[in-house]
Amino acid sequence: MPSTAATAPPPPPQSHTPLGLIGLGVMGRNLALNLGDHGVPLVVWERDPDLAAIARAALPVTTVWADSAAAVARALPSPKAVLLMVQAGPAVDAVIAALRPALGPDDIIIDGGNADTRDTERRQRALTAEGGPKLIGLGVSGGADGARRGPALMAGGDAAAWEHVRPALAAIAARTGDGAACCALLGDGAAGHFVKTVHNGIEYAVMQALAEAYDAMRGGLGLDVDAIAEVFAHWNTGKSKGFLVEIAAEVMLAREPDGTPLIDRIVDRAGQKGTGRWASLAALEHGVAAPTIVEAVFARAVSSRSEERRALNREPPPGRLDLHLDALADAVHAATIAAFVQGFDMIAAAGAAQGWHVRAPEVARVWRAGCILRATLLDRLAVAAEAVPAGASLLQATELRAELDTALPGLRRTVAAASLAGIPVPVHGSALAWIEGMTRARGPANLLQGLRDRFGAHGFERTDAPGTHHGDWRRE
Ligand code: 6PG
Repeated sequence: MPSTAATAPPPPPQSHTPLGLIGLGVMGRNLALNLGDHGVPLVVWERDPDLAAIARAALPVTTVWADSAAAVARALPSPKAVLLMVQAGPAVDAVIAALRPALGPDDIIIDGGNADTRDTERRQRALTAEGGPKLIGLGVSGGADGARRGPALMAGGDAAAWEHVRPALAAIAARTGDGAACCALLGDGAAGHFVKTVHNGIEYAVMQALAEAYDAMRGGLGLDVDAIAEVFAHWNTGKSKGFLVEIAAEVMLAREPDGTPLIDRIVDRAGQKGTGRWASLAALEHGVAAPTIVEAVFARAVSSRSEERRALNREPPPGRLDLHLDALADAVHAATIAAFVQGFDMIAAAGAAQGWHVRAPEVARVWRAGCILRATLLDRLAVAAEAVPAGASLLQATELRAELDTALPGLRRTVAAASLAGIPVPVHGSALAWIEGMTRARGPANLLQGLRDRFGAHGFERTDAPGTHHGDWRRE
């Protein structure tokens, strides 16, 4: 006889207040399906008739369809909350302008696109100045699968407005093994969109590190794609376990119908939608050393010049690599840690400059599941972020520092061996230089100061006396 527990009906989904959703492209449609599964009543609108038709066929019949942005807002009970899943840029301004007359100061717009942080700040300022609705900038990560099954959601903005929409968004977010929803208000203002920008910058760096490892294994060590898939799969059982390592193995194994590895038919030119560039610009703007992130953007730029690269091709090609796979594994791990620590430095610096009050441990926790960067390393980064004073480098956390120090010899060997073999490893090289620079008490900037004072009387500080000093640079 079945037990009582087995026959008990499943608990009804938590009842939620209705949400407006504008934009039913791939991401919007999948979020809508996810919201529907969790009992969030939806009022939706999509401007493009083809996308609207696809969505109509997919969404539950209970979905309410509006015929304009303003009609979405009018159909909602107060306080009204509307999630925008439209292309970042002018389209967001246009939809906000269309919604504006139907929304008051207690209402909420959530921009779920990959918005430029500066646009989000501008929109928040404008809406506040005119007594309009609150704008929450929401970073959404995980691609279409994540949107459908559980994305990581990184919010920034007004705390009371967030509390109103949090239950519905937490219900659809990814969950970690311990059951925590990867969905949080990470700070004020545009903090959520900034954290997503940094997430993408780190994503560029980790992907480039994996591409450099692939290059080293394929050309330098002469491994075939099956062997490289095995290496990536093996890395995914240890300290580097994470989504990008996992799918790197999958990409190696994909085959054309004739058996050719798909990777050999993919042009070696990387595209980019701009978030890596924004992250790099933000690092420069805030004076944060994030060379591993920036170098990954440069590597994509070099990749894009494929015709010139062909014309400039050097013969003979790169030589054999004298390197053990364990060293390469450590190199990728150290470069990954470097990229994350640099990203957290950026978040701390930008957060302090903009007054966003970003909670760094919460950022690491939100990245533990659902997002592209999900990896077991995030658990250790969350511990590190709790351990160090706010704004300090995560390298100050004892356990993370030890993890990096263990991997450092492998990174040194990899960069040295790859350089001798003529295999470019820009992300690994920049990570190594950054780690060495950050972990030595005295560097060579004393010469920079001497030179600046010698030619421009810019002054320098002395090791043995306070204040600003000049050298007596005159020569007889
Ligand atoms: C995610 C991804 C996603 C995408 C970016 C970057 O978190 O789901 O970061 O946002 O990868 O659009 O794309 P590009 O590589 O084209 O810049």
